[in-house]
Amino acid sequence: MNIKKVGVVGCGLMGHGIVQVAAQGGCEVIALETEQAFLDKGLGRIQKSVAKLAEKQVEKGKLDEAQAKAFVEGTLGRIKGSTNKADLADCDLVIEAIVENLDVKKALFAELGKLCMADTIFASNTSSFPIGEMADASGRPARFVGLHFFNPVQLMRLVEVVRTDKTDENVFAAARAFGESCGKTPVSCKDTPGFVVNRLLVPYMTQALLMLERGDATKEDIDTAMQLGCGYPMGPLTLTDYVGLDTTLFILQGWKERYPNEPAFEVPKILERLVSEGKLGRKTGEGFYKWDGDKKS
Ligand code: CAA
Ligand code: NAD
Repeated sequence: MNIKKVGVVGCGLMGHGIVQVAAQGGCEVIALETEQAFLDKGLGRIQKSVAKLAEKQVEKGKLDEAQAKAFVEGTLGRIKGSTNKADLADCDLVIEAIVENLDVKKALFAELGKLCMADTIFASNTSSFPIGEMADASGRPARFVGLHFFNPVQLMRLVEVVRTDKTDENVFAAARAFGESCGKTPVSCKDTPGFVVNRLLVPYMTQALLMLERGDATKEDIDTAMQLGCGYPMGPLTLTDYVGLDTTLFILQGWKERYPNEPAFEVPKILERLVSEGKLGRKTGEGFYKWDGDKKS
């Protein structure tokens, strides 16, 4: 199973990065969005990111100017934007990176299951929902995996490859090979809540939010403590701003509903409040911190 043409549904925070690394790996990529304006925003981010990566390679002496130009043009030349799902019909692999809402994801896969060729492999980038439920909704559970990339996709080196009891071994192997072609190290995961990383990371972020809510420490001190005390690249509140407060809330609400007795899955009130105020983190310019573009202001 050789994956040459990839569709990515959703060109937001994660989707645009997945489009980019798949194209960098040599695949033809269709980036699908609901509206042209969202598509343009995602494609604009890819242009900036590819240019930045090329510039850094030149600075490090790994590419000369001509090679950097070829890298940028080659990557961008393999990407095509679309707002028409029919363009995904002949993809070898379609990866979903839309809002963290299981019903919306299941409806999308049911539609794609009818529209895409029988061989197309489906993957979800969900942070928290069961891959098996989406696989069943798609009508092709043997050809379904989780491909969980990390934010920012261009820089984070991991991809979790999730299999269910019904995933075909060859499909799983093809998904791992695709992850490697994107420059990522794959780890194999079972279809458990949060897989490996988020089962550990999201409860940790939650504890930091609860600590802030109780007034145990300031947000700056919590972040500094984890950066300097544990060597984490960013503290948990900055990271929540980075991930998106809405996405973090959807993850926790979904888990709380399914596993009401699991103490690690708490929904901090402060998270509900900020989301209701439209403070979704870096993407809206304010979350726990204020942001000016990509940097804290
Ligand atoms: N594309 C290209 N270049 C990028 C980029 C992108 N998307 N993002 C940042 N860069 C560049 C920056 O421009 C910067 O370049 P210069 O050095 O020339 O200025 C360089 O990369 C370093 O970036 P930063 O200055 O912003 O800061 P940094 O050194 O702290 O690195 C980071 C950034 C890699 C994100 C690092 O802070 C980090 O690893 N943070 C933790 C991220 C993390 O934990 N992610 C997982 C989130 S959870 C998840 O994803 C799962 C889920 O389901 C919720
Ligand atoms: P986002 O809100 O930034 O982007 C979602 C995009 O999907 C939006 O641009 C939206 O217009 C588009 N979209 C919604 N429905 C669509 C449809 N039916 N067809 C085409 N496009 C559609 O969200 P995000 O942070 O990129 O998260 C996407 C997925 O990735 C979620 O499942 C999330 O849990 C997961 N994830 C997020 C992170 C993170 O750090 N934010 C990390 C790993 C995984």
